[in-house]
Amino acid sequence: MTNKKVLEALNKQINEEMYSSYLYLSMAAYFDSINLNGFSSWMQVQSQEELNHAMKFYKYINDRDGRVKLEAIKEPPAKWDSTLDAFKAALKHEKYISDCIGNLVDLAVKESDHATQSFLQWFVNEQIEEEATAKNIIDQLDLVGDNKVGLYHIDREMAQRQAAASSGAAE
Ligand code: FEO
Repeated sequence: MTNKKVLEALNKQINEEMYSSYLYLSMAAYFDSINLNGFSSWMQVQSQEELNHAMKFYKYINDRDGRVKLEAIKEPPAKWDSTLDAFKAALKHEKYISDCIGNLVDLAVKESDHATQSFLQWFVNEQIEEEATAKNIIDQLDLVGDNKVGLYHIDREMAQRQAAASSGAAE
């Protein structure tokens, strides 16, 4: 049985994932505003994946006979100084989410909640990917610096990212 304290902490994570989705959608809008449509498209896919993350928590809470309670999503920033600045903010945010997941795992261990520990393992692995991906894009942006042709090429590559199949296999 999943206890109330664990269920409440999992419920709070729905809000964190919804905020992540909102943050990345705001970054998508920022990229559209500076005509980097490939970056915008990438961020729209990322935003959708964060909704999938929120729904994983939603479903798990229901499966464990908990009651999902949605709370207000805070307003994300609307503007960044540059593409690089936006991705540095994304990496910082992913590190924060990794800490949130780590705290949830610590709580599940403390409460001897093996089912929740197992459920959270997917997110532990996902966060390794999320941080590495943001870091990789930062490295590419660092390499091109102020070179607009380089940025144009990265933008075209970013446009290739596809939404994960709705099976949920790769979100
Ligand atoms: Fe839901 Fe980007 O972690």
